[in-house]
Amino acid sequence: MGKISITLLIDFLFLSSLVATLHAGELETEEFWKEQAQSSDVYWKQRAKNAEQANKKAAVIDPYEVTANLSSNINEILRGSRKRSERMLLRGKKSRAPCRAFNPIDKCWRCDPNWAANRQRLADCAMGFGRRTTGGKGGRIYVVTDSSDNDLVNPKPGTFRHAVIQTEPLWIIFARSMVIRLSEELIMTSDKTIDGRGANIHIAGGAGFTIQYINNVIIHGIHIHDIHPGNGGMIRDSVKHFGFRTKSDGDAISIFGSDHIWIDHCSLSKATDGLIDAIMGSTAITISNNQFIKHDEVMLFGANDSHTEDNIMQITVAFNNFGEGLVQRMPRCRRGFFHVVNNYYTHWQKYVIGGSMNPTIISEGNRYIASDNIFLKEVTMRVLTRKSKWEKWQWRSINDEFLNGAFFTQSGPEVMKEKSKYAQGMIAANPVAWVDRLTRDAGTLSCKAGKPC
Ligand SMILES: *[C@@H]1O[C@H](CO)[C@@H](O)[C@H](O)[C@H]1NC(C)=O
Ligand SMILES: *[C@@H]1O[C@H](CO)[C@@H](O)[C@H](O)[C@H]1NC(C)=O
Repeated sequence: MGKISITLLIDFLFLSSLVATLHAGELETEEFWKEQAQSSDVYWKQRAKNAEQANKKAAVIDPYEVTANLSSNINEILRGSRKRSERMLLRGKKSRAPCRAFNPIDKCWRCDPNWAANRQRLADCAMGFGRRTTGGKGGRIYVVTDSSDNDLVNPKPGTFRHAVIQTEPLWIIFARSMVIRLSEELIMTSDKTIDGRGANIHIAGGAGFTIQYINNVIIHGIHIHDIHPGNGGMIRDSVKHFGFRTKSDGDAISIFGSDHIWIDHCSLSKATDGLIDAIMGSTAITISNNQFIKHDEVMLFGANDSHTEDNIMQITVAFNNFGEGLVQRMPRCRRGFFHVVNNYYTHWQKYVIGGSMNPTIISEGNRYIASDNIFLKEVTMRVLTRKSKWEKWQWRSINDEFLNGAFFTQSGPEVMKEKSKYAQGMIAANPVAWVDRLTRDAGTLSCKAGKPC
């Protein structure tokens, strides 16, 4: 009797692992998928509930304080580096090879020749709304050695997918340069850093990143391009759980109900949907030092007018380079608070910054260079809203530079009168002259161990 039930149990286990791994074939009936979808729905509803609490806590009460800190830091650095470069000129050939870090985030780590032995230092360098993001700090280094992505339910140790589903904090690096084609969306867990420094990493030709109902993720130094929707099916989302997922959108990075996310020094282009979308009350996010090219709808912050949870969205977009072949949404915002600072924008094909539903947008120290087309001069775009409504939204441009006829239509109250602290942070700003340099190394860097990066 006992023996039989053990055998049955083993059979059952064997069978269920078959169900798990062979998600194609005869088991794939309508009914099977319906059941999977239902149980998955319950699971993700619970995850959503937990995440909502965390997201709320992650938003700050007075976002101006955070932007002020970022601004005043920039001013300090600008003054500092001017003095240093003068000194360097004076010293002439005797000076050491200069470190190329020009903005305050980069200055925090790039000049350290031992960065490769000291990778987790990066976790102390975030600024803006995502400033408390530490990713896998304190965790083990996990080395990705295998670029395959063949088993979505039981990913092989050494693969990228195996790394990102682990429960513990992990600092994920790569054994060598590689192209990883994700068969389906890569569903991440909390407390992870993806660190491409020292290798040439391309996430390309397959699905993209899903950051859903989690927190504390750093993505640094990788290329993400040519991203397509996944078909869906059985995918593992953590060590303890896998389940049925519907078709994914085809975003390069999809941030969904998550907080404390920092995306730095990545090169992003060409995805079926957005390059970086942050939706469903995601907050405490910094998007810095990235290079964006060749894409239509670049960044969507808030996807649905009726989602009031997006009021807590707080996102910093800093030191990015928005280059050739971009069309619109850099970003497109709903509700929330967005600080767009010291970015370089050229040749947009529809607009740069857009929105609806009363988002607060502070554009500060950016360089906007319009194309020659006389219909493409405006930076801003209020989407489907009457003027009587949008003229109350706070969209301000402070110390931006506009070239070739570019212009920003401001609305709402001025920032300076209202927030003296913030205004103070602005006075010494000298953004026009420095944006070039601040964004010069946007995108992935080629870092060699033993040398400043
Ligand atoms: C901004 O900086 C001040 C002083 O440097 C500090 O006291 C304050 O906590 C900072 N604010 C935030 C939100 O980090
Ligand atoms: C927006 O969200 C509401 C409420 O969640 C939903 O009923 C509606 O279908 C959504 N609209 C779109 C266009 O997705």
